[in-house]
Amino acid sequence: MEQLQWGRHYVAVEPTHFRVEYAINPFMDPAVQPDPERALAQWRTMVATLEGLGARVDVLPQRPDAPDMVYAMNLGLGLVREDGSRHVVMSHMRYVERRMETLSAQPWFAASGATTSYVGRDGVGAHLEAGDAFAFGGDLVVGFGPRTEELALKHLAAELGLRVRGLRITHPGMYHLDLAFCPLDERRALVCPAALDDASAAALLELVPEPLVLTEEEALTTFCANSVVVGRTVLMPACPPRVRARLEDWGFEVVLVDVAEFHKGGGSIRCLTNPVDVTLGRDLTVVPGGEVVLPAQL
Ligand code: ARG
Repeated sequence: MEQLQWGRHYVAVEPTHFRVEYAINPFMDPAVQPDPERALAQWRTMVATLEGLGARVDVLPQRPDAPDMVYAMNLGLGLVREDGSRHVVMSHMRYVERRMETLSAQPWFAASGATTSYVGRDGVGAHLEAGDAFAFGGDLVVGFGPRTEELALKHLAAELGLRVRGLRITHPGMYHLDLAFCPLDERRALVCPAALDDASAAALLELVPEPLVLTEEEALTTFCANSVVVGRTVLMPACPPRVRARLEDWGFEVVLVDVAEFHKGGGSIRCLTNPVDVTLGRDLTVVPGGEVVLPAQL
């Protein structure tokens, strides 16, 4: 089975100012604060584990006024063009509490040599949170609803020249697609259909030739879909025995890293790491003019 070719270069934010200051998802409760030292230690172990697997991790500093910036997955959608140059479509966060993250992330990405853009700037901007967007099967699969707006899909498709497959997220606890979907290789993915409306759940199951279907409980209580894949290794915050058995049967090695302090903010390993090596023309098929495919509404 062809391995994922992306997932070897990440951007992460060192958690020096991580707090739960407000509640913009059902996991967050300002009365339950992370332990700063334990959070930093867990994050460092995660980064060292990724590096040990041969991945590159670039680290940007956290803004003191942006407690959620540690969830770097949401900073932007990183892409590599066919000529090797890098581009990042910056997120436009749904909640004002996180919008300032972009003010630091955009200059940081630019200084690192990437060009940057925003979706739909000529007309109305649209909310886009990159934790909703994944390359799979040559297309960009984008969850919309709680965070990313449906309008963003049109802009992404047209501006990048891609086929964008939209999935409507309806579960309040799986407010980003990365809590319910994790590509494993070219044919397989962790999939939690309970995150989506019926038409989108059916569309996702059709899109993934060999889905490993997670129950709502598995996805919500263990954050197991919020994992990262480096070649044939799946770096997970937890793994129910049933899921591990299937992954190992498929030839994957499961490596666990405890990032429980970050679950208090509603995110796990994937949210903390943003892959920036998804390559146009390799992982995403170029479709001149772009195209949006939405599931038939049942
Ligand atoms: N507290 C953050 C928020 O609600 C958590 C983000 C989780 N990140 C993710 N990619 N799912 O925005």
